[in-house]
Amino acid sequence: MWLLLLFVSSTLGLHTKEPPLPESASRNEVPERWIDVKLNHFDASNTETFRMRYYYNGQYSTSTGSNIVIYVGGEWSISPSWVSAGLPYELASYTNSGLFYTEHRYYGLTRPSSDTSIQNLRFLNVDQALGDLAEFIEHVKSEQFEGGRFRNASVALMGCSYAGTMATWMRLAYPHLIDVVLSDSGPLHAKEDFPEYLEVITEALRSQGSEACLNSISDAMTRLRDLLYTNEGAAQASSMFKTCAPLQANATLDLSTFFWYGITENFARLVQYAMPGDITKACDVITDRSQPDPVQRLANWITNVTGSCIEPRYTVVVTNHRNTSYDSPDATMRLWTYQTCVEYGWYQTTTSSRQPFLTTVPLEYFHQMCKDFFSNDIDEELLRSGIQRTNLFFGGLKRPDYVVSVAGGIDPWSPMGPNMTHSTPLSPVYVVSNSSHCRAVGPIASSESDEIRNVKFQVLNYMSYHMTGIPIMDASAHVALLTPILLFAALVLSITM
Ligand SMILES: *[C@@H]1O[C@H](CO)[C@@H](O)[C@H](O)[C@H]1NC(C)=O
Ligand SMILES: *[C@@H]1O[C@H](CO)[C@@H](O)[C@H](O)[C@H]1NC(C)=O
Ligand SMILES: *[C@@H]1O[C@H](CO)[C@@H](O)[C@H](O)[C@H]1NC(C)=O
Ligand SMILES: *[C@@H]1O[C@H](CO)[C@@H](O)[C@H](O)[C@H]1NC(C)=O
Ligand SMILES: *[C@@H]1O[C@H](CO)[C@@H](O)[C@H](O)[C@H]1NC(C)=O
Ligand SMILES: *[C@@H]1O[C@H](CO)[C@@H](O)[C@H](O)[C@H]1NC(C)=O
Repeated sequence: MWLLLLFVSSTLGLHTKEPPLPESASRNEVPERWIDVKLNHFDASNTETFRMRYYYNGQYSTSTGSNIVIYVGGEWSISPSWVSAGLPYELASYTNSGLFYTEHRYYGLTRPSSDTSIQNLRFLNVDQALGDLAEFIEHVKSEQFEGGRFRNASVALMGCSYAGTMATWMRLAYPHLIDVVLSDSGPLHAKEDFPEYLEVITEALRSQGSEACLNSISDAMTRLRDLLYTNEGAAQASSMFKTCAPLQANATLDLSTFFWYGITENFARLVQYAMPGDITKACDVITDRSQPDPVQRLANWITNVTGSCIEPRYTVVVTNHRNTSYDSPDATMRLWTYQTCVEYGWYQTTTSSRQPFLTTVPLEYFHQMCKDFFSNDIDEELLRSGIQRTNLFFGGLKRPDYVVSVAGGIDPWSPMGPNMTHSTPLSPVYVVSNSSHCRAVGPIASSESDEIRNVKFQVLNYMSYHMTGIPIMDASAHVALLTPILLFAALVLSITM
């Protein structure tokens, strides 16, 4: 249940909740720390600053010769758990590194303004966030931080999802500050309409579920669409799907809201965060022959996974996202939606015909959302020029050197990131066949398949080599030939010793 709660966040936000760590939580008490960084990195005459939050674990650093590993925070609130477990922690242990976890401006408690009104959001963009990281690294490498022990450090960044994107672009924008990078599932190519997202979901439902599962969803969607042409049908659908208010026949924006939050988002969440067996189990409910009506079978699955009513009222969604308080429940989605409206697009529409959800969530729905959440100035023209700018400044899929990227074979975000065709000796790409989003940054010991475990070893090896000149296989030759479980045991032993 806790895991479910963690994931009740929109997948439009890639990962608007911090990626969870299996069974670890905050193992030890790590105090939060703060650093003042410039509000506007691109105007030398503006000397305003704000407080940026981070966590630090120095257990593997030494007074001389320490390196730096930063787990980059994305569009979520950071927690101390990631400085005490996970792949970044393991890299730090192999490379005598201090381990840091930074919070992205505007998210969590890193709040550069009093609220999130549109005027105050003008300093929310990736360029500024990368500037924050650059300033942060300079500070950690200075005499002022921990007696200057990181003065000569090699610097490695690891990030998943949008934070993987940021890590990649740090190497591009600040090569003198960054030695090596892991991007796990980071999209690199900004694009307005992103119908490929639902195509990958369709393929995952087919390969991990069944053709019958897809057919059932397709039948359900056709019948549901027909029901929603009449008031009686709409009333029927409202009660089947437990909507928070009755659906109205032909109410375009409300119906898109219902299909987006109520239907496609639940499939998005299922596949984006799938663990082995999850998709098969969902398809068992969707194809359960004891229920003859495909709409009812779909409703059974949806109501079971959502656990609360589905909000179909577009005006209610807009009102919730117009709240400019940092503490409003939709604040994170407001902030990330702003970034999509001015920098990335990435709208998970039903534009493709290779998916079973008909044309229920068109691109215009998101155009309207940008205007209604923020202002009429945040229109398609601005969106398109913002996307063009992002791809111009960061080069899309032309990756910089010393970046290792991991892509999940069933990660719906993968079409916006690198695949095998982008792999080079200096910047390798690993595609993990049945993996979903962000499966490479977790601890080696909790790998769900040999394939992903092996990729994590490759990543540690590559990064360690480019930080210290020594791959971990050599550095720990005495454990390299052990099975991963034993290797983990050895690692734990070496930590506790
Ligand atoms: C950093 O490098 C300089 C020059 O090589 C050396 O004198 C100094 O001791 C090193 N500092 C640390 C903390 O390793
Ligand atoms: C991926 O999943 C499919 C379907 O469950 C299975 O047939 C295939 O063997 C898996 N591939 C790997 C490499 O595990
Ligand atoms: C909804 O639209 C359909 C198709 O345009 C039309 O046939 C139907 O009468 C409309 N229903 C209502 C309740 O207006
Ligand atoms: C609902 O979900 C629970 C687990 O979350 C599962 O045990 C149960 O079988 C599901 N019921 C239906 C009808 O899908
Ligand atoms: C906005 O959200 C805050 C925090 O949840 C709440 O206290 C406030 O009443 C909300 N404002 C409006 C106008 O709904
Ligand atoms: C790899 O990415 C390129 C560019 O995005 C795309 O055209 C190509 O189809 C992808 N290849 C595979 C095997 O997914």
